[in-house]
Amino acid sequence: MKLRKVPNEVFSMMDLNAKFNYRWMPDTTFSLMGLGISYLLEFFEFYGDAISKYYDRFIKNTPYEDSRFHDFISQERRHAAAHKRLNMFMAKNHLPPTREKYHPRVYDFMYMTYKTFVEPNIQGIEADEKDGKTLDGDSFREALKTLAVFETEVCMAAFSFFDNLFDKGKIEHIASLSENLAVLYLLGYHYAEEMEHCHVSIETYENIYGETLWNEKSIEQYSGNNDILSHRIINATLFVAREMGVEITVKQINSRLPDRKRSIRPGFNAKSAREKSKIDYLVNKWDLEWEPLLLSKIKQQLQERAA
Ligand SMILES: [Fe+2]
Ligand SMILES: [Fe+2]
Repeated sequence: MKLRKVPNEVFSMMDLNAKFNYRWMPDTTFSLMGLGISYLLEFFEFYGDAISKYYDRFIKNTPYEDSRFHDFISQERRHAAAHKRLNMFMAKNHLPPTREKYHPRVYDFMYMTYKTFVEPNIQGIEADEKDGKTLDGDSFREALKTLAVFETEVCMAAFSFFDNLFDKGKIEHIASLSENLAVLYLLGYHYAEEMEHCHVSIETYENIYGETLWNEKSIEQYSGNNDILSHRIINATLFVAREMGVEITVKQINSRLPDRKRSIRPGFNAKSAREKSKIDYLVNKWDLEWEPLLLSKIKQQLQERAA
C-alpha cells in the first residue's frame, strides 16, 4: 500500500471558485453523483478513523493485531483531507459542517446518518467497554462489519469506474470530454487506493470473527436491504445538484445506481486470485499510465491558462 499525494496542480486546476465546472465526465447525472459520493466517502473516512481508535485499544497485543489496518486508515485520512477541499467548496453556502461528539464534520444532509448509525454505534462500543467487552462486544463487531461492507461497496464502485471510464483506451475519450480533469484525477487517485486496501477491512473482520463476510445468505440479505446506501447517494447527489443549480430527478439518479446483487460474488475478499489480479492490473495502470497521462494534461491546461 502506497501513500500517494495529489499534486498541487490538481487542486489549482479544480477551480474551487466561481469558475468551478461540475461536469468532470460527459454524463450530467453521473457527474453529480460522483460529487455526491465525495461527501459519503469523506463522512465514512472520519467514521473509520474513529473506529481505528477502538481498534488500537482492543486489538493491540492480541493475535489479531495487523499493521495493514493502520496503512488502510492512513490512506483514508489522506482521502478525507483531499475531498474536504472540494466538499467545503461545494457546500460554501452552508458552512461549516458541525462537529458532533463522535464525528468532526457532519454536513446537514448527513446528520440523519450520524444520528441513526454513527452515534448509537459508538455509544454502544463505549457502553460495552464499560462492561468489560472489547472485541466481543456487539457494537464493535457491527462497526468492523460496516467498515468491511462499505469498503467492498467502494471497491465495486472503483471497478466500474475504471472499467467504464479508463480501461481499454476509454480514458482518452473521457479526458477529451471532461470539463474538470482535476475532479476526474481526484476520483482516480482515490479509487486506486480503495482497491489497494479493500481486502484489509474484510480480512480483519473475517479473521477476528471467523465468519465469511460475503456468502450466499449475506449477499441475499444485503441486496434485499439496499435502500440505505441508495438513499444516502440520492440525498448527497440532490444536495450537490441544487448547489450547482442543476435540475435533476430522483428517477434519473435511481436509473444510474448499480445493480448490487450482481456486483458481489460469494467469497469476495479482494485477495482471492481473481480479484487480486484485477486489482493489481488496475492499480498498476493507474500508477504507470493513467495518472501520468491525466497529470500531464492538467499541467498542459495550466500552462495554456498562464500563456
Ligand atoms: Fe477512501
Ligand atoms: Fe477505503
